[in-house]
Amino acid sequence: MKRKVLTSKKIIVAVTGSVAAYKSIDLIRALKKENAAVKVIMTSSAANFVTPYSLKIASGDEVITDMFSDPFAHIEIPKWADALVVAPATANTISKFYCASADDIVGACFLAFEGPVIVAPAMNWRMYTNPIFVEKLDHLKDKGIIEVKPERGDLACGEEGIGRLAGVDIIVESIKKVLAVDPDLSKKKLVITAGPTREYIDPVRFISNRSSGKMGYAIAMNALSRGAEVTLISGPTWIDPPKGARTILVETAEEMMASVSENADKADALIMAAAVADYAPAKKSGQKEEKKDSMFLELRATEDILKAVASMKRRPLIVGFAAETGQNRERARGKLVGKNMDLIVFNDVTLSGSGFDVDTNKVTIMDGTTEEEHPLMSKHDVAAVILDRVASLLS
Ligand code: PMT
Repeated sequence: MKRKVLTSKKIIVAVTGSVAAYKSIDLIRALKKENAAVKVIMTSSAANFVTPYSLKIASGDEVITDMFSDPFAHIEIPKWADALVVAPATANTISKFYCASADDIVGACFLAFEGPVIVAPAMNWRMYTNPIFVEKLDHLKDKGIIEVKPERGDLACGEEGIGRLAGVDIIVESIKKVLAVDPDLSKKKLVITAGPTREYIDPVRFISNRSSGKMGYAIAMNALSRGAEVTLISGPTWIDPPKGARTILVETAEEMMASVSENADKADALIMAAAVADYAPAKKSGQKEEKKDSMFLELRATEDILKAVASMKRRPLIVGFAAETGQNRERARGKLVGKNMDLIVFNDVTLSGSGFDVDTNKVTIMDGTTEEEHPLMSKHDVAAVILDRVASLLS
């Protein structure tokens, strides 16, 4: 008989104060049916919607509601667990995660937990779409927290909209996806570039582009979760370096070139998600240039990093990106061949939700003969499909 993905996996189910809290009973039962071990923690607000006793019956174990009932529960439970699932997750609890607040058992366990965290929000649609809340949730997602999006439909308040807790089957599938990650890149050395470069005109002015680094950092995070040794070479971004990666911060195309060259010959694969400036000022002034009515700026092309690595004696597998304005697949294919890459990830940066500084991307992965087109997905999911190809080419 096939072993279930969740067999012996240790899962914390955290229940917070939403009217959907009663559905956590079905979630706990479904996880136990998958042979997972479940420990339940809950906020005091959740106890207004479902009793700790009902959750104890479902899980077969004590339910922790009070941080002070056991002085070390908030450390010991996270140490025990493979995953933390917050379902339903209220706006209040998600905002507390954002603030690193540990004033209840759920917040404290979240802070002490080092593994994958899955949140399944449930709330009124006005709350779920409030831009302040959206910003907080997006920030947590940038840090690797996985959201199981709520459904659209009738809400407890009588309104209709997005905010119903996702179905138990969908939450269970998400947990399986997270915990079933195959260490298919174990011990593989990946060099990943991310973010923009800055090409200085003088000490205070530079030429750059709109790359946020989100795409490259998502690839680094996914590669780490698959067991890879990751060297992340990053231009300036606001994103914190992923835990477990060797991160090298650079500013200019020249610095990125030097750092990639130093690391690429030891790597199994190079993935260039960085938006390297194609041109830099021919001369950099040592002092701030005085403001005039007009100014001519002579630019020189920067050296192409991918081309340089492709011509190395011991070259890694090479994956580049093509940022195009429009469905310019032929141009992407020209870059694949011209820069001697193994794969190129084509993204049309003019499509809504795709390309620079957003959390989603729509890509087509091309090799010498095939094109694999994907729908608009989160950058984390895009990272996963790119690394599926890398893993299969390296195996
Ligand atoms: O960072 P985000 O906000 O998440 O946005 C993601 C992204 C849009 C930056 C990313 O998905 C992307 O498309 N990155 C590549 C951008 C780019 O520079 O594309 P290009 O078509 O101009 O270059 C083709 C390839 O050559 C790229 O892999 C690039 O890294 C590489 N290159 C470019 C110039 C240079 N001097 N050396 C290079 O190696």
